[in-house]
Formats: sequence, structure tokens, C-alpha cells
Amino acid sequence: MDERTTYDLLLVGWLVLAGAVFVALMRTTAPYGRFARPGWGPVLSARLGWLLMESPAVVMVVLLFALGRHRSAADWTFLVVWNVHYGYRTFIYSQRLRSSRSMPMVVVASGMFFNVVNGYLQGRYLFALGPSRGAEWLTGPAFLAGLGLFLGGLCVHVQADSRLRSFRRPGERHYDLPRGGLFNYVSCPNYLGEMVEWAGWALLTWSPAGVAFAVWTAANLLPRALACHRWYRSTFPDYPPRRRAVFPGIL
Ligand SMILES: NC(=O)c1ccc[n+]([C@@H]2O[C@H](COP(=O)([O-])OP(=O)(O)OC[C@H]3O[C@@H](n4cnc5c(N)ncnc54)[C@H](OP(=O)(O)O)[C@@H]3O)[C@@H](O)[C@H]2O)c1
Repeated sequence: MDERTTYDLLLVGWLVLAGAVFVALMRTTAPYGRFARPGWGPVLSARLGWLLMESPAVVMVVLLFALGRHRSAADWTFLVVWNVHYGYRTFIYSQRLRSSRSMPMVVVASGMFFNVVNGYLQGRYLFALGPSRGAEWLTGPAFLAGLGLFLGGLCVHVQADSRLRSFRRPGERHYDLPRGGLFNYVSCPNYLGEMVEWAGWALLTWSPAGVAFAVWTAANLLPRALACHRWYRSTFPDYPPRRRAVFPGIL
């Protein structure tokens, strides 16, 4: 079997797995952050956990770019766009966290596994197995609309991350009732931003791998947003009743 056939089979299996993960996460919320609980084995600090979990996404895509065949301005742009997100998430977000909660190693290992497979699917398609995109791709409608969504989503989740961080001084571990910005409309604007961002990536790369990542992001974050919304409602009696979980006015 050649690599392209193996790749296509992996992608289909990966999408099926996203469906299974969605069902599992609707039943059991991943045990980190506010949902951390005993019984999930050895743990490490959230800072180290995020750093380890997200690093493979940077390494895989940079490596596959280096080993790949495509080298146009579009390919360089994909590489930069990817690393704007993952550079932030891996090296900045993880080290600025104000969380003294620990993260089970099983969550870290699952995240690393996800990032290795997802990094392979993105990097190998874009830089070797998929169509080679020339510089003209960067002025086409799919790229421009996708980049707009990506950057819009990035701003939303970076702002939401920063607002959440502002609720605590170093060492504190309480939870506030968030207000301001998109928090006035939804409980989890960070998840909303992330989902918009990867939908934008699917569009700007116009790739099945990008679509699979957008589907995985929703499969991960929709159940968590619903759980988080229920948690806020049961924790704060004065929680704004009109606020939704993740999509303003909808869900
Ligand atoms: N692409 C994907 O599939 C994927 C999957 C998961 C996460 N992510 C992204 O990773 C980022 C972090 O995810 P997460 O699930 O850890 O987000 P989160 O539950 O909102 O927590 C983010 C940080 O804010 C703190 N925090 C949350 N609510 C707070 C409140 N009400 N008051 C004070 N502090 C609060 C948390 O502290 P504690 O740690 O103490 O709870 C944590 O340090 C998000 O931007 C998310 O979009 C992406």
C-alpha cells in the first residue's frame, strides 16, 4: 500500500475516532482543570502538562515541512500560521497559566498522541501528499476568508485566556464568575475562539486534514463547554440566565 492510501485510511479512521471521542466526552468530562478528580493515576503540574502535551504539534509540523516536497510562499505561510497558534499555546500559554491544579498523565499522554497524529495528518498533506499550492493561493477567496476566521478566532481565545488569567493572582486557585467581552454572552469564549480558528484553518488550507482537525476540535470542546456551563450554573446562583455555553444566543 502506498503512503497516500495509508494516509487516506488513517484520515477516515481518525474521523470515526472523533465521533467516538465526542460520545465518550459527553458521558465523562476529561479530568483536568475544574473537573480534576482523584482516580486517574499519576499527575504532573498543569504547566508541564500543557508544555509536553502541545510540543509534538510544533515538532511534527516543522519536521514534516523540513522533510516535505512543497516549498512555495503558501507552504511557508501555512507553517507560520500553524506555529502562531502552537507557539502561543505551547510556550506562552502554558508558562503563564495561573493554575495550581495538577493534570493526570493519562490526559497529557492522550494530548500528545492526538498532536502526533494530527501533526502528521496536517504536515504530510500540506507539504508532501496533497496538491502543491503556489503563491497565488494566498490571494484566493478560500485562503483570505479562512485566514480572517483563523485570526478572529485566535484573538477571541487569546483574549479569553487572558481574562481568565486576570481573575487570579499567582498562587490563587479560586474561580470567579467571568464578566466582560464575550463572557457576557457565553461561558466559554476560549472554546468558541478555538473552534472558529480551526474552521478557518480548514478553509485556508482547503484540505481534508484541516476539516478533520476542525471536527476533532468541536468533538473535544463542545462537550467540555456544556459541562463547564452546567458547572457555572450550579456554582454561582446569580449566573446570568441568558448566557449560553459556547455559541451566543444558540447553544
Ligand atoms: N483544540 C482542542 O481540541 C483543545 C482542547 C482542549 C483545550 N483547548 C484550548 O486550551 C485552552 C485551555 O483549555 P482549558 O480546558 O484548560 O480551559 P479552561 O477550563 O477555561 O481553563 C483555562 C485556565 O483558566 C482558569 N480558569 C477557568 N475558569 C476560571 C474562572 N472562572 N476563574 C478563574 N480561573 C479560571 C483555569 O484554571 P484551573 O486549571 O484551575 O481550572 C485554567 O488555568 C483553551 O483556550 C482551549 O480552547 C483546545
